[in-house]
Amino acid sequence: MLVFITDDYTELSREAARMIANAIRKKPDLRVGLATGDTQRGMYRELIRMHREERLDFSRVVTFNLDEYIGLPAGHPQSFRSAMHKALFDHVNITASQIHIPGGTARDNFVEICDRYEEEIRRAGGIDLQVVGIGKDGHIGFNEPTSSLASRTRPKTLTQQTVEDNRHNFPPGQEPPATAITMGIGTILEARRILMLASGAAKAKAVALAVEGPVTASVSASALQMHRDVTVLVDREAAENLQHKDYYRKSLEMTRKLTPNRLW
Ligand code: GLP
Repeated sequence: MLVFITDDYTELSREAARMIANAIRKKPDLRVGLATGDTQRGMYRELIRMHREERLDFSRVVTFNLDEYIGLPAGHPQSFRSAMHKALFDHVNITASQIHIPGGTARDNFVEICDRYEEEIRRAGGIDLQVVGIGKDGHIGFNEPTSSLASRTRPKTLTQQTVEDNRHNFPPGQEPPATAITMGIGTILEARRILMLASGAAKAKAVALAVEGPVTASVSASALQMHRDVTVLVDREAAENLQHKDYYRKSLEMTRKLTPNRLW
């Protein structure tokens, strides 16, 4: 894992956007996995700026989102689909056929929906670069603690903590969904590169467990230790509990000199 510690959220957002933009410039038909979280908002804002001011071109990019709530009607303002349109898709040159978000209603056959999503990823040639955030309990996507490390896209019951963490996005009186469809950990690990973002003190414990703790289904993000090309981009607050910060800084310098291709 390459751990990259930034001073603050602004720098983290800029770095993340720069990494994605470089990947798109290298491969204009990049298949990119996206995450919907507050953490990614700054990164999306920066990508929009790059589209407007630096002609970053999304016309051939294909996106696959990690997850979506179950039970919200299409077009619901709090759905991840709506959030993604507001945060990014409506502001860059991307069309509906390039965008993939898992989803369905309570009456749908979820096994079919999830298998179809996996098939769409396969047919597109797999995901080149997957962006993930991290939940306070160490989840990636909505793979809550004890999710199988080999799991595939499927419906998932959210923990009470995750439901509470999501509440601020919903108007008062509206109960956040208790279930979601999410790519599995096995699905995420098949991406060629993974970029994990974390910002703020509330994520410090989860980040330390994910990066320096044992690989365990109790902390889904720890499964990323098994992947050969992961960059963990964290701001100073989220990095607070990491034990080897000096080593990560030195290691980044060494990577810049010896294997710059590993960088984005
Ligand atoms: C949700 C999403 C994750 C996201 C996590 C953290 O659970 N399913 O993809 O990474 O929240 O979100 P935030 O960045 O808002 O803290």
